[in-house]
Amino acid sequence: MVSSYDLNVGAKRLEKVEPSLIRTVLDRTAVLRGEGKPVIAFSAGEPDFNTPSDIKEATIRAITNNQTKYGSNQGYPPLRKLLQGYIKEETGIDYDPNTEILITSSAAEALNNSIMAFVDEGDEVIVLTPAFVSYKSLINMCGAKFVDIPLSAENGFQVDIEAVKAAITDKTKMLVMNSPSNPTGAVFSYDNLKQLCELAVEHNFLILSDEIYSRLVYDGAEFHSIASFPGMKERSIIVSGFSKTFAMTGWRLGYIATSAKLRGHILRVHQYSTTCSPTFIQVGLAESMNTPNTKKQVEEMLAAFANRRKLIMKLLDEIPGLTYVKPYGAFYIMVDVSALNISSMDFSMKLLEEKYVATVPAVGLDDHTGKYVRFSYATSEENIVEGFRRIKEMVEEMRKA
Ligand SMILES: Cc1ncc(COP(=O)(O)O)c(C=O)c1O
Repeated sequence: MVSSYDLNVGAKRLEKVEPSLIRTVLDRTAVLRGEGKPVIAFSAGEPDFNTPSDIKEATIRAITNNQTKYGSNQGYPPLRKLLQGYIKEETGIDYDPNTEILITSSAAEALNNSIMAFVDEGDEVIVLTPAFVSYKSLINMCGAKFVDIPLSAENGFQVDIEAVKAAITDKTKMLVMNSPSNPTGAVFSYDNLKQLCELAVEHNFLILSDEIYSRLVYDGAEFHSIASFPGMKERSIIVSGFSKTFAMTGWRLGYIATSAKLRGHILRVHQYSTTCSPTFIQVGLAESMNTPNTKKQVEEMLAAFANRRKLIMKLLDEIPGLTYVKPYGAFYIMVDVSALNISSMDFSMKLLEEKYVATVPAVGLDDHTGKYVRFSYATSEENIVEGFRRIKEMVEEMRKA
C-alpha cells in the first residue's frame, strides 16, 4: 500500500495557524542589524537586564552538584513550596504545592498545556484583544472558535462587560485574559474583574488568566489575581513565569496555579510534552529566588521600568501627532499614530527603514483599528532618549511634507 499523503503538507490543525505579522518587523530588524545599522529596538517583550546573580550562581552550583537527572513531573517540590508562599504573599490565595501548582518550561508552555487540556474542536474561547499572539494560535490549533472581544482605547482598554456578555453562548468553554496586559499596558480594575468572574460563575466557563506581569504595576494601580474572586479558584487557571520579573527569558521556566481537579488534566499534557522542566534550573531557583540579593535586584529592575515608563510618556508628550493611553502595568505603551494619516504597519516600517527604530504594529496582535503601534520600554533610558529623538525627527518631517 502506498499512501496518497503529500508529506510536505502540515497537519490540519496548523491550517489556521499563520506566521505572525510581527515577524516581518523582527526579520527586517535582524537584516538591518546584520548590515551594521544602529537599530534601537522597542519591539522585544524582553527585559534588557541580566538574571539576578544569586540565581545564576545557584544554578551553576546545581549543575556542578549533578542535579542533571529527570525530576518530578509536577516540578521540584521545594520550588513548588516556595511558589506557594510567593503566590500567597502576592494574592492571598493558598495553593497546595502538592496538588495545585505545576512547574512548566515557560509561561508559553503553561498556556499551551492549559488550552490543550480543556479546549476541544467546536468549543468557543473568548479572548480580549489586542492580545499576546499565542492565545489565538493555540485556540486555532485545537479547532476551537476564537471569539474576539476588542478592547477600546476610549475606556482605557478596560473590559467591556456588555460585549463579553453578548458573546457568551452555551459553547463558551473558556475566556483568556492578561492583566497587566501585553500589549496595552492596562491593568483591569477590581470592579471589571469582579464582573468578569461573575459571568464565569453564572455561565460556567473557565478563565485562563495570564498573570506574568503581575509585579509590574505603577502609579497606585493594583493587581488582583482572578483566582481571588468568589468561586474562582475552581474555575481559573493562573499562568505565570520567571521571564519578566526575574529577567529569565532564555531559561524557559514558568508555572501554573489552579485547583487540583484542573491541574490533573494539565499535568497529563505536560507529562507527554516535556516530561519535566530542567532540574538544575528548578534547584537553583529554589535556593535563590527569595534571597535578599535577588529581592534587591528584582526591586531595582522594577524601579527602572517605572522610571522608563515616566520617561517614555514625557518624550511622547513632546511629539505632536502621537497620542497614547496611559499604561499602568507591564512594560508596553500603545501609541496612536492615526493623526498622521498613516497606518500602524506603515508607520512601523517607515520608522524602521528611515530611522532604524523597531516597534510592533499592534495589528499583528489583533488590534482591529490599525491605529496603534506597541512600544516596549524594556530598554535603557539612553536608548529611549535616542529612539525618541529619531521618532520626533521623523514625525516632524511627516508633518511638514
Ligand atoms: C502576556 C505574555 N504571556 C506569556 C509570555 C511568555 O512568557 P515565557 O517567556 O515565560 O514563555 C509573554 C512573553 O512575551 C507574554 O507577553
